[in-house]
Amino acid sequence: MHIVMTGTGYVGLVSGACFADFGHEVTCVDKDPAKVEALLSGKIPIFEPGLDELVANNVAAGRLRFTLDIAEAVPGADAVFIAVGTPSRRGDGHADLSYVHAAAKEMASHLRPGTVVVTKSTVPVGTGDEVERIIREARPDLEFSVASNPEFLREGAAIEDFKRPDRIVIGVNDEHARAVLQEVYRPLIRNESPLLVMARRAAEMTKYAANAFLATKITFINEIADLCEKVGADVQDVARGIGMDNRIGPRFLMAGPGYGGSCFPKDTLALLKTGHDYQAPLRIVEAVVLANDNRKRAMGRKVVQALGGDTHGKTVGVLGLTFKANTDDMRESPSLAIVQALQDAGMKVRAYDPEGMELAAKLLEGVTYCKDAYEALEGAHAAVIVTEWDAFRALDFARMADLLADKLLVDLRNIYDRDEVERHGFRYVAVGR
Ligand code: UGA
Repeated sequence: MHIVMTGTGYVGLVSGACFADFGHEVTCVDKDPAKVEALLSGKIPIFEPGLDELVANNVAAGRLRFTLDIAEAVPGADAVFIAVGTPSRRGDGHADLSYVHAAAKEMASHLRPGTVVVTKSTVPVGTGDEVERIIREARPDLEFSVASNPEFLREGAAIEDFKRPDRIVIGVNDEHARAVLQEVYRPLIRNESPLLVMARRAAEMTKYAANAFLATKITFINEIADLCEKVGADVQDVARGIGMDNRIGPRFLMAGPGYGGSCFPKDTLALLKTGHDYQAPLRIVEAVVLANDNRKRAMGRKVVQALGGDTHGKTVGVLGLTFKANTDDMRESPSLAIVQALQDAGMKVRAYDPEGMELAAKLLEGVTYCKDAYEALEGAHAAVIVTEWDAFRALDFARMADLLADKLLVDLRNIYDRDEVERHGFRYVAVGR
């Protein structure tokens, strides 16, 4: 199959490379000349484990190409995916669909009869109708289909998630689109990944409902964690205790500093907007958004409290800045609110992150960025784990004790055992334990 992927962000680049790896001919189009130039010279603009190799292999095999020119890419494609960004619109939280609409407009004049246009970007319900309208306006006589194919991959595990998905969702309003997408996903379907075929609007809703539900699950366990701290229970036991109930499931029950990233924060807001527009308010999601926003700064206060409130002029060593491990993504990272809260409390912040410091430096001022975890702890009155990088899972406590001014570990990801930490003479503050 000939596939065109418009947009080489996370979803576009990973999906394009994986489709090529299945044996399809894939052309990735992007408007950003610097990005395309980098990709052509083998540089991957994002940090994602395994992606550089996957791209290089498929480029070498001649199945994956990059271009700026949509006019050259689109003719001859069986399916053209739209995988451009849908950021929050400034001011109201609605998904900004200008890039999606622009992509539809630009491809319209180059489409051949029978091409299926597929939105892979996370787009509010009804966007498929609008994409169809835009193309129809430009090409009243063209036979084409518009489908929805939401993507459920996680940053840091993107290739694995794409190649071994829990399910593939395709939203189609006609038989031709279904047949083409089934062919596109044939290698995965043969591998026994379940394929769910539904109407286009249902597929669009599925994506938002999935992200909102996962955000709710995390926020639920975070609030249970707060209560556990008050009543003297361990949230990890509680999470295991409820997670083994098949109806609940064990994943996404890790209490922590609140969810961040490029998806949950933006998608929950966009879903709320859709709910308001259709007069079907989503009160649970509303509460989740509010609780999660408050939580991030509250984690800064937790550190202040652990220091006995006496913080002026003290130093904190922050370990991890990205919104989760195995990514360089800083978008909506809890660290942004936490570091700010620490600085507001008069503290100096030293920080280390294996991949996120370049982006963090653009967002966080007044932070001393260090070359490793130990340098970040020099002279600090507390070590604070914000992101669960593997590099922080086996810290050398003797070395830390020499470097720190105060033997205090605040573990916002619950990656340590209290007994082990205390055995080394440290005070240990975790989440919900
Ligand atoms: C999320 C979804 O998991 C993907 O299925 C979806 O495709 C993607 O959004 C998207 O819409 O593009 P992602 O944002 O990469 O993926 O990251 P997650 O692994 O879901 O983590 C999101 C946030 O929740 C992180 O800040 C993470 O630390 C936090 N989290 C996750 C917890 O605090 N506890 C958990 O148990 C799980």
